[in-house]
Amino acid sequence: MSADDIEIRRLARDDPADPALYQAIRLEALQANPEAFGSTFDVESEKPLSWFADRLGDWTVLGAFRNAQLVGVAYFAVQQGQKRAHKGGLWGMYVRPVARKAGVGRRLVEAICDLARQQVELIQLTVVRDNEQARRLYARLGFLEYGLEKNALKQGGRYYDEVLMAKDLVGE
Ligand SMILES: CC(C)(COP(=O)(O)OP(=O)(O)OC[C@H]1O[C@@H](n2cnc3c(N)ncnc32)[C@H](O)[C@@H]1OP(=O)(O)O)[C@@H](O)C(=O)NCCC(=O)NCCS
Repeated sequence: MSADDIEIRRLARDDPADPALYQAIRLEALQANPEAFGSTFDVESEKPLSWFADRLGDWTVLGAFRNAQLVGVAYFAVQQGQKRAHKGGLWGMYVRPVARKAGVGRRLVEAICDLARQQVELIQLTVVRDNEQARRLYARLGFLEYGLEKNALKQGGRYYDEVLMAKDLVGE
């Protein structure tokens, strides 16, 4: 597979299939890589389909499709509040194992940056410090590390530090 075979499009709340596709990949992500996300499978697996559909309306959730199969997702949202509205965030990045190491992650981050550029000046994200592959991906695409939150997440008695990263979208 090459990244050229991938179609990136927004998942839509009102589409007949998208909410269920999003629910399935989101729950898979939380089960497969619990250390990578702030939320948990236990919490989100209790939610009805309508909750996942609403997220597609509230945020911009991009899906990466290969042969009509959803293989990856990432979300973008502008920050809340007048004084923060010049900043946006990238969250929930996940590529199914079968589609990894072929540029899908890169395509998703590039697509998020392209739409963020039309709405905000800066895009931010957090990534667990041990997640070197994701950190490398973001760094390659111009995200700079600007901070570290020690013990940002705690699960099962274990703490995880998070690296704060941002990409300046003005004057690129
Ligand atoms: C992190 C993650 C999103 C990366 O997705 P991906 O689709 O594998 O990303 P890419 O393919 O763009 O890049 C990954 C690697 O494949 C390499 N690659 C890309 N295209 C390639 C190709 N055609 N042939 C060989 N290698 C390739 C990249 O150079 C990169 O190498 P590196 O790890 O040495 O830096 C994915 O591993 C994942 O979902 N992980 C679990 C969840 C997670 O950690 N999410 C991030 C939360 S912040």
